[in-house]
Amino acid sequence: MNAPAKTAEAAALPLVQTFDMLSTGQRAAMQRIARHDEAEVPQIDFQTPASMFTSAERFALEQQHLFRARAVPLAVSALIAENGTAMGHDALGIPLIISRDKQGQAHVFLNACQHKGAKLLETCEPMKAARMTCPYHAWTFGLDGKLLAVARPETFVGLDKSSRNLVELPSREHGGIIWVMLDRNAEPDFSPLVPELAEDLEALDLPRLHVYGRKRFEIAANWKLVLEPFLEGYHVQRLHAQTVGPMFADVPNVVDLLGPTIRQISGKANFTPDDLALPGENIHKTVTTVYNMFPNCVVITSPWYISVMLLHPRAADHTTVEYHMLTRSVPDNPKAEELYARSYEMVLNVFGNEDFRAAEISHAGLATGALDTCVYSGLEASIATYYGVLDGFMPG
Ligand SMILES: [Fe+2]
Repeated sequence: MNAPAKTAEAAALPLVQTFDMLSTGQRAAMQRIARHDEAEVPQIDFQTPASMFTSAERFALEQQHLFRARAVPLAVSALIAENGTAMGHDALGIPLIISRDKQGQAHVFLNACQHKGAKLLETCEPMKAARMTCPYHAWTFGLDGKLLAVARPETFVGLDKSSRNLVELPSREHGGIIWVMLDRNAEPDFSPLVPELAEDLEALDLPRLHVYGRKRFEIAANWKLVLEPFLEGYHVQRLHAQTVGPMFADVPNVVDLLGPTIRQISGKANFTPDDLALPGENIHKTVTTVYNMFPNCVVITSPWYISVMLLHPRAADHTTVEYHMLTRSVPDNPKAEELYARSYEMVLNVFGNEDFRAAEISHAGLATGALDTCVYSGLEASIATYYGVLDGFMPG
């Protein structure tokens, strides 16, 4: 009797993915998840200096060596899904334009008209556009950055339009994420975009999902304190005791490195390996997968949607987070609409009022100087792995 109900559910809420739809790497990792009653939590001996979260000098070094030396995740491709779409982007504090031209190529530009520097796009909402016209003197650019038209061109002496195209930053799409080189004078380095990462995100259908909702958070905490809750399960039973905590178990995750990206896979509460073999079962009900895409993007699976967060460091004590809830499509039936709306409210509450709040109270306490070091448990081992990768990119 269960089969027809499942079919109806899948038809109404079609982000259902079964085990066999996943990538080879995802399936192999899931097969390494222990039965929860047999999982062993390791002990670890790991500390970090508190100053790595509070020091302005450390922040400047991270900007130089982590965020500007190689490509970093910037935005979700699905925001500009259709050819001929453009949007402003200001979450880094640098005015940018993200566009997809009519050939389907994604671009990232500095959001500055080549006449007098005015921001061409003043909105961060994606919009269909054949071209972009500066509000100041109406210089007009294509979505590929080419200067197409200038008002009263005869009043300039020898204006060479081809030398006044928008300034483009090197960018690539990989697994449904737009990656960018923020320092256009640095040698482009796209080495974090390894094939295994794209295979996983493709298997999750990330490049083809729909942006159901997105919300920006301004958080009074260091970006690594915002990131840490997404690298450990230690807090889940405690911080989230009244919300999602009971769905998860206090056991270690299966952790793999895909280039510098950390993939963590964990079974929901009471997991047994038999759960993977249930025919037709939505794998995201049984297993949660989290990607910490180096250095600042978090992707988390849920049964009916995928969360993507971009963490943009603004200062040692300020992080802008752009949260996106991705679904299979625009909700086209009342059941999907109701489920997506309820999920969106729930996830914003859990991340916004619990994880991000935890980052803020942690930062406030560390800023008092009360601790010289933070200390980590075996349930936070992925944080040690992450900082190992990070240290490898930092000087000396
Ligand atoms: Fe959390």
